Amino acid sequence: MTLNNETLIGVVGSGTMGTGIAQVASTYGHAVRVFDTDENARKKAETRIEQILSRLVEKGRLEEDAARAIQSRIAFVDDLAALSDSGLVIEAVIEKLEIKEKVFQDLEKIVRDDCILATNTSSLSIASISSVCENPWRFLGIHFFNPVALMPLVEIIPSTTTDETITAATRGLIDGWKKTTVAAKDTPGFIVNRVARPFYGEALRILDEGIADVTTIDWAMKQNGGFRMGPFELMDFIGNDINYEVTQTVFEAFFYDPRYKPSFTQKRLVETGWLGRKAGRGFYDYSPGAEQVEPVKDEVFCAEIFMRILVMLINEAADALFWQVASRDDIDLAMTKGVNYPKGLLRWADDIGGAEVLSRLKALYDEYGEDRYRPSPLLRRMVATGKTFY
Ligand SMILES: NC(=O)c1ccc[n+]([C@@H]2O[C@H](COP(=O)([O-])OP(=O)(O)OC[C@H]3O[C@@H](n4cnc5c(N)ncnc54)[C@H](O)[C@@H]3O)[C@@H](O)[C@H]2O)c1
Repeated sequence: MTLNNETLIGVVGSGTMGTGIAQVASTYGHAVRVFDTDENARKKAETRIEQILSRLVEKGRLEEDAARAIQSRIAFVDDLAALSDSGLVIEAVIEKLEIKEKVFQDLEKIVRDDCILATNTSSLSIASISSVCENPWRFLGIHFFNPVALMPLVEIIPSTTTDETITAATRGLIDGWKKTTVAAKDTPGFIVNRVARPFYGEALRILDEGIADVTTIDWAMKQNGGFRMGPFELMDFIGNDINYEVTQTVFEAFFYDPRYKPSFTQKRLVETGWLGRKAGRGFYDYSPGAEQVEPVKDEVFCAEIFMRILVMLINEAADALFWQVASRDDIDLAMTKGVNYPKGLLRWADDIGGAEVLSRLKALYDEYGEDRYRPSPLLRRMVATGKTFY
């Protein structure tokens, strides 16, 4: 399986992600054909890429000739058949299983036998989508992050049936696009959307219990942990509707494991229409001149809040390693490159000390008696044998 910059890249869906993927593939020299059923979406995507490229030229980050070449290599097409010569097709249509299945059934009728088929799904299993394919050995997940051109991380997710040479060739190609690729098992949330859950979930839990308010929790995470945004600022930024939906999907996909239980507070915000920045109101009020509540800047109190959320994140990372979702290095890379964590969580565990992490988790488990706080068997085993992650 050879993929190089002569390979024609097909993209299905010209929304947020498809547009970004097309721009990146073209930047690395590929001819790209983008198909979308919606003419408006195609036009919007074309204009969006034009705007992004001209802004890069204005800022002196891209030569004008190079910008023109990138634009000229991307063709927006109204017929899927125009993707028939692709060596790789990446699907980025809306997150609906039936629609994705139909896309791949149609694609298999027109593409060559050696064409690799990939989905950018965030929450559906790769196996469920590939089950409709006649040749599932050439099918896998390539999970980009938004905005595609700026976020370095890409999760590569082979399915049960994916041929190893297909996974290796795809990873090699995406590495060539200067992305940081990590390999993930086809499990709910892959790496990032699973391991990041406690960042939101435990912050919401602390809020729901009335232990601290939104601004104090955000302040604690930024001040003590060096996170760029606090959990509530980030949920407002992502959109509470989207963030809630991811949590709910992961919760259901894990057969209702209480560790991923969504919060009523966030659900009510969604029902109210307080979706975050885009709605002008979320956990924070974004209307002009709105008064913001001052955080309680008590160092000891904030350190406790930070540690509670951090140990829950570390526990999730350790458990992902325990269940072989990904390697130690890939789990840490995923969180630093995919969601800008200041440090890999397993590295962080070593820095704090596994015994300290475990004792805090055990204390939470004893206090609440909830399965949500059960320490990962890997963490217990490592502390018992005096081992570290690195
Ligand atoms: N937005 C994100 O932050 C993000 C991040 C990672 C992965 N994803 C995943 O990427 C995929 C796309 O997400 P998005 O945010 O770009 O969605 P989007 O809503 O911005 O775009 C989806 C596009 O698909 C088109 N479409 C719908 N049905 C189609 C069909 N049958 N054939 C061709 N085009 C069709 C729509 O017209 C639309 O332009 C989803 O699977 C999503 O889960 C999204």
